[in-house]
Amino acid sequence: QLSAAVDSICKDFEVDAAKLDELTAYFIEQMEKGLAPIQDKQTDKGLPMIPTFVTGSPNGTEQGVLLAADLGGTNFRVCSVTLNGDHTYSMEQMKSKIPDELLEDENVTSDDLFGYLARRTAVFLKKYHPDAIAPKAGGAAAESLKLGFTFSYPVDQTSLNSGSLIRWTKGFNIPDTVGKDVVQLYQDQLTEQGLDMVNVVALTNDTVGTFLSHCYTSNNTDSLTSGEISEPTIGCIFGTGTNGCYMEEISKITKLSDDAREKLLKEGKTHMVINTEWGSFDNELKHLPTTKYDIDIDQKYTPNPGFHLFEKRVSGMFLGEVLRNVLVDLHARGLIFAQYRTQAQLPHRLQTPFELDSEVLSHIEIDDSTGLRETELSLLQSLRLPTSPSERKEIQKLVRAISRRSAYLAAVPIAAITIKTGVLNKRYHGEVEIGCDGSVVEYYPGFRSMLRHALALSPLGSEGERKVHLRLAKDGSGVGAALCALVA
Ligand code: BG6
Ligand code: GLC
Repeated sequence: QLSAAVDSICKDFEVDAAKLDELTAYFIEQMEKGLAPIQDKQTDKGLPMIPTFVTGSPNGTEQGVLLAADLGGTNFRVCSVTLNGDHTYSMEQMKSKIPDELLEDENVTSDDLFGYLARRTAVFLKKYHPDAIAPKAGGAAAESLKLGFTFSYPVDQTSLNSGSLIRWTKGFNIPDTVGKDVVQLYQDQLTEQGLDMVNVVALTNDTVGTFLSHCYTSNNTDSLTSGEISEPTIGCIFGTGTNGCYMEEISKITKLSDDAREKLLKEGKTHMVINTEWGSFDNELKHLPTTKYDIDIDQKYTPNPGFHLFEKRVSGMFLGEVLRNVLVDLHARGLIFAQYRTQAQLPHRLQTPFELDSEVLSHIEIDDSTGLRETELSLLQSLRLPTSPSERKEIQKLVRAISRRSAYLAAVPIAAITIKTGVLNKRYHGEVEIGCDGSVVEYYPGFRSMLRHALALSPLGSEGERKVHLRLAKDGSGVGAALCALVA
């Protein structure tokens, strides 16, 4: 009985070639809509497609020492980056896990969050650049230190160094930040810490940082040895959240005012990086595969119901939550964990939203031990949940269905952007390079190969798939923010 129920659930998580076709076509449509000006009363605005004001990509010859700060999914990092000008860099960094209180306590204010960021920045500077922040003889002003700020949440960017938060994603919920300029909030708190020599000169998204750092480090001549020319085109994140950016022709970004576009074109700029915020793809649920678990998670357990619905099917923050919801449902239907008679008796952790980390799923995914012993230990450790061998077999099927759906859906934006930009056809034997970062693409076993498999099933076909190169651009946002600060 359990096995039949699980098979039927797994079926609902399947994404076949026809679905990939449909989603890819719709993704392209939504990108085009998002690049166009928003009409009054328009309900379907398409993807956010946020102009980033980054109009060039680095070629690896950039040089300088810059500061970078990076508020991502899991961590806050402060770094100082030395760009050597030969595709290489060195970096000192201090990483701290974002404290749970800032994510969970509903009374947290913007000042609490940005105050924390500024204090961490001060700790970093005291350790690595004490001279730069020490009081100067005769009260002379300290030399200004340029800092690039990677802020990985949707921001309505108004210039390279200003932008207001549209909404929080990935678990943050601090209402008073929405609508405010996040650069100003950070800068004010830096001043509060006595760090007025630090100037936040550039604001960027993690996808943009990843893209820029990938451009900087990738050395096209390497691939020339095999006779191919790969162009860096997309930067993307598959981690706690998911998102991507790409280079778009300025003439196609018609949501920029005519004046702004003409000014850029006159300055000789032809392209601008667009932050798609693809986590918000198909919030109307016209085409995304949807199970009752997805609806429950969105409506009951997230602070932003109705938003970022693509992300809620793909990113690391949600994989474990989907499994948790399925397990609780199977128990309610009397098919699993019979030792607990009521839901209230289930282990507390299994009843707690977002308690099941995608890391646990990554162990179950590849467990081939006898009786799935690894799975047993993982579930005992993470959820205090004892399981029988036959239950574990079914849980593994579910894990594999959930991760496969995630990786298959992840192929959609990549196929769509590759097709929309026509990057493979720009030159004979054209190829494309994609800089990726994030815990899922880096650590989830099989994620990249499932994604590739889906690319081959997508309208790109296997020939297109072979020309798309996914490159891990680890911790790229630090270098990317430094590059942004350099040009600012
Ligand atoms: C980090 C980047 O490496 O990856 C961050 O520096 C980014 O900017 C993060 O947000 C994404 O991964 P995760 O798994 O922390 O969401
Ligand atoms: C969320 C954010 C987006 C970010 C992504 C990856 O989707 O909205 O800005 O790039 O997570 O971290």
